[in-house]
Amino acid sequence: MGIVKATDEAIRVAADHLRAGQLVAFPTETVYGLGADATNGRAVAAVFEAKGRPQFNPLIVHVIDVAHAQEHGMFTPLAVRLAEAFWPGPLTLVVRKSAQSTISDLATAGLETVALRAPDHPIAHRLLHATERPVAAPSANRSGHVSPTLAEHVQTDLGERVSLILDGGPTAHGLESTILDATGNEPVMLRTGVTPAETIEAVLGQPLRRALSDDAQPQAPGQLASHYAPNARVRLNATDVKSEEALLAFGPDVPSTAGRVINLSPTGDLIEAAAKLFAALRMMDKSEPVTIAVMPIPNQGLGEAINDRLARAAAPR
Ligand code: TXA
Ligand code: MG
Repeated sequence: MGIVKATDEAIRVAADHLRAGQLVAFPTETVYGLGADATNGRAVAAVFEAKGRPQFNPLIVHVIDVAHAQEHGMFTPLAVRLAEAFWPGPLTLVVRKSAQSTISDLATAGLETVALRAPDHPIAHRLLHATERPVAAPSANRSGHVSPTLAEHVQTDLGERVSLILDGGPTAHGLESTILDATGNEPVMLRTGVTPAETIEAVLGQPLRRALSDDAQPQAPGQLASHYAPNARVRLNATDVKSEEALLAFGPDVPSTAGRVINLSPTGDLIEAAAKLFAALRMMDKSEPVTIAVMPIPNQGLGEAINDRLARAAAPR
């Protein structure tokens, strides 16, 4: 469908696409986002595939307002204060994911926390309203390319990978939202962005702690201490399975000796495997095996990000 003017009808169609698991690019006040239904693991996997990200970074999940955010995250009084002061607007709050949240594990890269923001843009707002779901959306560009501030940028970068691009003209800021970790008593700035630290400090009445990497880029989730790592040892590229092992399988040819098995995708579909990965690791771990044996996964497309995550899980701790 390509670029469409964001009329009421187009927004309704875009919402239908999102609810059907397709990707829709839409304008926010910061940059254009590549949106997917955050509750649909396969749709979220398609975002990673479209961006060509070799890693599963947790994504920012867009909501209408604080009330909707509270369906998915646990807001401390401090987080409520920040949301009330800055939402809708270019501030993302990382909070604990609530037990009843339906946001997929892939959107949060298996973390116990979730990054939420209410964008300040009429088209984004109407789209979220019509979709009636939280929408995961990183910037709508291929990994490593600059963030798009025009619908045409999205078209050039992602083309057929996105089902529809809602055109809202140039974005106001052209820079991403500021990200704050608001899980504790003291907020920590994780990424610099449109909302200046000084403005946040003025609201808080105290200096803001910063946990930025050297280049002020977002912390790689693999470096986040809270990133999900199984308790069990992980053995990669397993072509056989021992009796004490649980097997994380992929594809149709599962070793017949396997007892406890979760198959990431019996048909060998990498999108399905990505969508299931974090939940599968968690579920395997619950049965407390000494070792999780993992069958080989092709290192192409989403397979690269899956293998990156599994390699981290297998690294000695
Ligand atoms: O302006 C923006 O924020 C744009 C527009 C489209 O809204 N969105 C955006 O999203 O930049 P995204 O998904 O690319 O941001 C992802 C970054 C991650 O790299 C990570 O730094 C941080 O958000 N993040 C997400 N979830 C997190 C979590 N649970 N804990 C810590 N950081 C998290
Ligand atoms: Mg980006």
